[in-house]
Amino acid sequence: MKLLVTGGAGFIGSNFIHHILGKYPNYKVVNIDKLTYCGNLDNLEKVENHNNYKFIKCDICDSEKIDEIFEEEKPDFVINFAAETHVDRSILEPYSFTNTNVIGTHVLLETAKKYGIERFLHISTDETYGSINNGKFKEDDILMPNSPYSASKASADLLARSYFKTFSLPVVITRSSNNYGPYQFPEKVIPLFVSNLLENKKIPLYGTGMNIRDWIYVQDNCEGLDAVLHRGDDGEIYNIGGGDEKTNLELTKIILNELGKDESHIEYVEDRLGHDLRYALNIEKVSKIGWQPRHTFEDAIKETIKWYKENKSWWKKLKKEAFSEYYKKQYNK
Ligand code: NAD
Ligand code: DAU
Repeated sequence: MKLLVTGGAGFIGSNFIHHILGKYPNYKVVNIDKLTYCGNLDNLEKVENHNNYKFIKCDICDSEKIDEIFEEEKPDFVINFAAETHVDRSILEPYSFTNTNVIGTHVLLETAKKYGIERFLHISTDETYGSINNGKFKEDDILMPNSPYSASKASADLLARSYFKTFSLPVVITRSSNNYGPYQFPEKVIPLFVSNLLENKKIPLYGTGMNIRDWIYVQDNCEGLDAVLHRGDDGEIYNIGGGDEKTNLELTKIILNELGKDESHIEYVEDRLGHDLRYALNIEKVSKIGWQPRHTFEDAIKETIKWYKENKSWWKKLKKEAFSEYYKKQYNK
């Protein structure tokens, strides 16, 4: 089997490549990534010389180059992680989200249709549903995205589905909740707060800190993606949630406690525009194809914090090079 993974130099994509190469000795992985500010080949250092791994720098919006890659590589499976992913950036610079998330996905779908593939796994997100005060989202709930990021992801998700309905392209879609774990870019809340505290800086908590996220350890998500890739049904959508709901304040206190810091490090800052209150996923459908999260938040958050403590050079470089300009813009500093 040959897998064409897009966005494999990012957080979930790189964890997924490690998972696949570790579990399936006969699978080949071709990783195509534009290497934007959050694409980082350091995430793949351990596999860069692996016989079954190849990297190609490419923008998924570049239809000519994507065509050449399909022609040359003839992938069996496409797994589309490539995206602009940070909600705050989508408020500041929304066009890049429409380009990559919608146009880029469309280019991949069209090219996959032309060459024929066994499976197109499109990575969507729980944010496409919008916010839910009570209960949990099911796969057939309507999509009510609230940010330019989630609206672009909802558009891509619907385009992917339409290629199954109209052209019988064997598409499967996953919508996962908030991932955490190694190699997450330090603009997302967990690596941002952990790294700031390790540098003895304040941590910017938005609004009241009462927004709720449903956390999933990235390894569990990779196993869920693997299950859907191999055992999901064509044209179907699968929620992949960890079921570990926390308010941002609860999460912050867990991180502070783990790092031996007190609440004076919290800086309550202006809320995110259009900030979704709560995400929560019903995972009955994916559990029917044999997947359940294996990690508890209590254990996996400790492991995650340990990883960021032990890999300071990994995130320090990113914060210095790519993140500082954005941070200045975000807080008008
Ligand atoms: P990330 O921001 O860490 O990585 C995104 C990767 O895509 C980077 O390597 C980047 O260089 C690459 N990329 C961006 N634009 C590209 C383009 N035009 N062409 C080729 N490559 C491009 O993101 P992540 O957190 O790993 O998320 C991966 C996917 O999972 C995204 O589709 C995201 O919407 C989805 N998702 C993420 C989460 C989460 O909690 N992180 C939850 C649900 C769904
Ligand atoms: O739910 C899945 C989504 O999770 C993915 O689709 C997105 O790609 C991913 O970025 C993530 O989106 P969130 O907006 O939920 O993640 P983020 O880490 O940006 O924020 C998590 C919560 O923490 C959110 O309620 C906002 C809050 N927050 C975030 C930052 C960066 C803060 O309070 N302070 C911060 O500095």
